[in-house]
Amino acid sequence: MNLKSRGEKFIVRSKDKKSSSRSQKQILRKTNSESVKKLSVNKIQGKSKILKKLLTDGYIHTGISGLDELFEKGIPKWASVLVAGGPGSGKTILCLQILANAAAHGERCLYISFEESEKRLLEHMKNFGLSGEELIKKGKLKIVRKDPFVLASSVEALLADVRGELLIDVEEVLEIIPPGFKPDRIVFDSISTIATILPPKEEGYRVFIEQLFRYLESLDVTSFLISETEQVPVKYSDSGVEEFLADGVIALYNYRKQNVRVSALEIIKMRGAKIEKKLVPFEIKGGKGIVVYPEAMVFEEF
Ligand SMILES: Nc1ncnc2c1ncn2[C@@H]1O[C@H](COP(=O)(O)OP(=O)(O)OP(=O)(O)O)[C@@H](O)[C@H]1O
Ligand SMILES: [Mg+2]
Repeated sequence: MNLKSRGEKFIVRSKDKKSSSRSQKQILRKTNSESVKKLSVNKIQGKSKILKKLLTDGYIHTGISGLDELFEKGIPKWASVLVAGGPGSGKTILCLQILANAAAHGERCLYISFEESEKRLLEHMKNFGLSGEELIKKGKLKIVRKDPFVLASSVEALLADVRGELLIDVEEVLEIIPPGFKPDRIVFDSISTIATILPPKEEGYRVFIEQLFRYLESLDVTSFLISETEQVPVKYSDSGVEEFLADGVIALYNYRKQNVRVSALEIIKMRGAKIEKKLVPFEIKGGKGIVVYPEAMVFEEF
């Protein structure tokens, strides 16, 4: 872990020269409470970068039946996407499918799990007709399980001295990327683990989350960050800041209709992409996974 004092700034440090020069160009935050208020400024500054990237980069597809139809062209390749939903709403399955579909098309995919083991995740994949083991053998998929307690001690140690100015090395704290593996897509299951470590209302949490988003941006990957919410989320993250930092938000709902539960999803936002803004039902099917019905209605009275 690298903690270094440098002016009044937080800096994301990376190991390779390219990202280190990139990170130096990043907008740096002060460690006082103003840093949180300045998030909206970041968003504005981020927009020109988004437009620039859009001209050169393409879009990705999820490969999930019915979901890609909700995007005109797809999800911008560089986007960070919050996948928000309640317990058992299908967040893990959705993300496993997105990665497995991409890996089957030759992309390198990384699944970082703070919850389920690789064995359990591979079993899930098998149940939904996804050949996880084969993709791992081909070097296209990596599942890395992280211990939340190890993360907790790293982050706590990191933020313990946040009184003055220091340098945060997000990569070294989280050790996100396995050596020699350059992913195209990353899933983080879940970002809410961080909220169990740091109180989401405290500044340290927000600063850390903001640094995490900036770090993912510097990697040039499509990232999917799972966020645990209520069954019918009205807020998509623990602090309420994550949905502003993320480029996209996909919300999974678990509605109660009389004595049954209905699954539905909605793309709340996707910077740089035209989306259909509507609530659509989906099912989780054995052997198939998530199937979205873009033409169907969740409630007849809608
Ligand atoms: N073989 C299967 N066939 C159909 N549905 C299944 C099958 N296996 C699991 N499910 C459904 O998938 C849901 C779990 O999905 P998933 O693990 O992706 O949820 P999650 O949102 O990640 O939950 P958590 O917040 O607990 O991590 C279960 O609630 C269950 O209804
Ligand atoms: Mg899960």
